[in-house]
Amino acid sequence: MTKVEHLYVHVPFCAAKCNYCAFYSEAGSAEQMGAYVDGALAELSRYELQPRTIFFGGGTPSLLPATLMRRLLEKIPAGDVEEWTIECNPATVSTEKAKLFREFGVNRISMGVQALDDAMLEVLGRVHSEDSAVRSYEKLRAAGFENINLDLMFGLPGQTMAHWQETLRRAIALQPEHLSTYCLILEEDTEFWRLFQSGRIKPDAEQELAMYEAGIEMLSAAGYRQYEISNFAKPGRECAHNIAYWEGKDYLGIGPSACSTIGDRRWQNSAELTGWKPGRAEVISQELRASERAAFGMRMNAGVPGELVRGRWDQEIAELLSAELVQWRGDRLQPTRRGILFADEVAAEFL
Ligand SMILES: C[S@@+](CC[C@H](N)C(=O)[O-])C[C@H]1O[C@@H](n2cnc3c(N)ncnc32)[C@H](O)[C@@H]1O
Ligand code: SF4
Repeated sequence: MTKVEHLYVHVPFCAAKCNYCAFYSEAGSAEQMGAYVDGALAELSRYELQPRTIFFGGGTPSLLPATLMRRLLEKIPAGDVEEWTIECNPATVSTEKAKLFREFGVNRISMGVQALDDAMLEVLGRVHSEDSAVRSYEKLRAAGFENINLDLMFGLPGQTMAHWQETLRRAIALQPEHLSTYCLILEEDTEFWRLFQSGRIKPDAEQELAMYEAGIEMLSAAGYRQYEISNFAKPGRECAHNIAYWEGKDYLGIGPSACSTIGDRRWQNSAELTGWKPGRAEVISQELRASERAAFGMRMNAGVPGELVRGRWDQEIAELLSAELVQWRGDRLQPTRRGILFADEVAAEFL
C-alpha cells in the first residue's frame, strides 16, 4: 500500500477531438464509459490514499453521465482534500453536474474556454460557442464554485493581436480566480499538424512572444499574479496540485495514459479505454529527480531553493546570471522577467 498526497484521475472521453489536441481521449459509448468507471474504481482500490490535492483531467471529465460520475466520486477518499479540481468543457457543464461535484467536495473547476470568439472556436474544432462558455461559467458560479480557472490559447491560426487582447478582456471581465494562457503547440497526430505539414499553418515566433507579453501585462494589470510561465492567479488561488508537480512531489495517476511517480519509480498506464495496464516502471535516480525539480521549479516565479542547485549547476547558474535570466532572492534562485519569457531555455540548463 502506498500513501500519496497528489492524485490525478484521467477521464479519457471527449465529445469531439479538437484540431490541436493530442491528449488521449476518444468519443466513447455509454457502455465504454461504464467499463472505464469500473476499471478506475478497481485501480483506485489498490492504493491507500489520503490525497491533499485531486485533479480530474482529460479528456473531458464533465462528459461522464451524472450516474457514472457519482459512482466514481463516491469512492474517492476525499476526507483530507484541500483542493479538488475537475476539468470541464463548457459544452458539458450542467447545473445537475455542477451540484453533484459540489456535493462531493469538489472545490475548483478548470474550464477549457480557449477563445471567446465563435469564428476562432470553429477553427479550433471546439464544440461550444462563446455564449455557451459564458453561460456554463455562470452555472458553475450559481452552484457555488468560488475557485474557477479558464484555459485560453494564443498563437492560433488567423488570430491577430487585437483578437487575443479582446479574448483576454472578455475573460478578465468574467473575473475568474485563475487563468491559464497556453501558446499553441503543434502536436503530431492532430489536424493542425497536418495543416502545418502542408504549409497552411505557419507559426510566427515573434508574434507568439508579443502575445505572451501582452497577456502578462493585461493580466497583471487586472490583479492576476503570474506564478508559472502559463499560469496566473488572484492572491492565494494558485493551483496547489500543479505546484506539487512542479516541485517534484510524488503523485499517483489513475486511468488510461496516466503517469505516476512514487519514490524512485515512474510508470505510465497504457492508453486503452478499458483494460489499461501500468507500463514497466522506470527507476529514477535521485540525480534525475533533482534535475527535474530544478528544471520545473525554474518555470515558476518562486524558483527553487539554493540548496537544490548549489554545487551542482554553479557554472550554468553563473552563465544564466550574467545573461540576466535568473537572480538570487534570499536563498532562492528565481527566473527574472526575461527568464520567464525564455523559460524553456532556462529549464534546459538543469536537465
Ligand atoms: C486536457 S485539456 C482539458 C480541458 C477540456 N478538455 C477542454 O478542452 O475544455 C487542457 C488544456 O490544454 C490546452 N491545450 C491542449 N492542447 C494544446 C496544444 N496543442 N497547445 C496548447 N495548449 C493546448 C487547452 O487550453 C486545454 O484547455
Ligand atoms: S482540448 Fe479538451 S475537449 Fe478538446 S480534444 Fe483535448 S481534451 Fe478533448
